[in-house]
Amino acid sequence: MLKKKKIVILGSTGSVGQSALEVVKQHQDKLEVLALAANSNVDLLAQQAQEFKARYLSLSDTTKLEGLNAKVANFNQELQLRSGEQGLIELATLEEADIILIAIVGIAGLEPTLAAIEQDKRVALASKEVLVVGGELVMSALKDSQAELIPVDSEHSAIFQCLQLESELESDNLSRQVSSLTLTASGGPFFGWNSAQLENVTLAQALKHPTWDMGQKITIDSATMFNKGLEMIEAKWLFDIDIANINVVVHPQSIIHSMVEYCDGSSLAQLSMPSMTLPILYAFSYPQRWENCQNTPLNLVQLQQLTFEDVDEQTFPAISLARKSIEQGGTLPVVYNAANEVAVELFIQKEIGFNQITALVQQVMNQHQVQPVDSIDSILQADQWAREQSAIEAQLLLTPTD
Ligand SMILES: NC(=O)c1ccc[n+]([C@@H]2O[C@H](COP(=O)([O-])OP(=O)(O)OC[C@H]3O[C@@H](n4cnc5c(N)ncnc54)[C@H](OP(=O)(O)O)[C@@H]3O)[C@@H](O)[C@H]2O)c1
Repeated sequence: MLKKKKIVILGSTGSVGQSALEVVKQHQDKLEVLALAANSNVDLLAQQAQEFKARYLSLSDTTKLEGLNAKVANFNQELQLRSGEQGLIELATLEEADIILIAIVGIAGLEPTLAAIEQDKRVALASKEVLVVGGELVMSALKDSQAELIPVDSEHSAIFQCLQLESELESDNLSRQVSSLTLTASGGPFFGWNSAQLENVTLAQALKHPTWDMGQKITIDSATMFNKGLEMIEAKWLFDIDIANINVVVHPQSIIHSMVEYCDGSSLAQLSMPSMTLPILYAFSYPQRWENCQNTPLNLVQLQQLTFEDVDEQTFPAISLARKSIEQGGTLPVVYNAANEVAVELFIQKEIGFNQITALVQQVMNQHQVQPVDSIDSILQADQWAREQSAIEAQLLLTPTD
């Protein structure tokens, strides 16, 4: 019998984390949970630990550690608790771990990712912020290791799957043969709207995604198209391709998850019904494929049509801002990401309007003096600067002018 793969899930209480646990449940003969981590959702984390018989837990919010301790004290399983940022790193580097799923929202996933790579683990990467802010560091650490980085974002998983057919080629040869990548975007709830219509959209409208069921932050990013901007940056690092050769098309049915175009004019695409269980499963099973009872089979006849349109970059400037951030490079993508996080939070708190999310990010990027990214510290400093500058710019945006 095959040895079960031991899985560590950082962000197990979130949308991706919960889907990953569903995948583990479906494949209990091949997978087992070793460790789980969350920020503060003590109730769900404890429940998951009991159900999946986790051996390690980590909670980043140390003020809730006592509560977690009390909840798990009666479990008749050996359970070790860790906490804070160090807890995430300890879980990501557990000797017995085979796969580390990074599914934390924000840049808290960066250091555990680097630590797991250093220990030659397989990293299943869902958190797009990790490559957006630390692409240079992560890809260079990967080159010096025996680790594997398997994308879990559905678009990047699609490209990764399309490239597998070519995996026997030398990577240099491969990059010469791939002429472009096309990321598909659902268009979010406001596809086809103009800027004036977007002026007064509510939080509830922005959270109503037409095809994907995801966490709050990424759902709003889909509505502004920042999600696609972050994915363009992620793709640039993962597949070592010039940003000029990364295209985005709106595909409202979310059936084609992305495409690779080769130099001879052939395009390969990956198609499936929209569900995160497939890319998560593939990151666990790769290079094999395992059955996926959670995915509704694709019925092209029933779907009838797949449609495609250009992105309206005037109304959704998040795409051109992403391009600018990668062209200028250095710390600018860090600023793009951090300013967007602040702006989304202000929108959730109903302090700024929907269109002001992009306006705020643009202002903060314009103020930034780009620095090289040569260490985690340089990333953290730029991140901190962007958050402070975003607070200042938000005040200016909110100050009425005559
Ligand atoms: N949702 C999707 O379909 C999807 C698809 C592709 C990529 N992604 C990416 O995957 C990541 C997770 O997205 P999501 O939608 O699953 O987010 P989510 O539902 O908001 O969940 C976030 C998870 O991260 C945990 N977390 C946040 N900060 C943490 C910290 N400092 N230490 C430890 N845990 C922390 C949360 O714990 P608590 O519950 O305790 O707060 C929760 O488990 C994001 O980067 C997103 O862009 C998501």
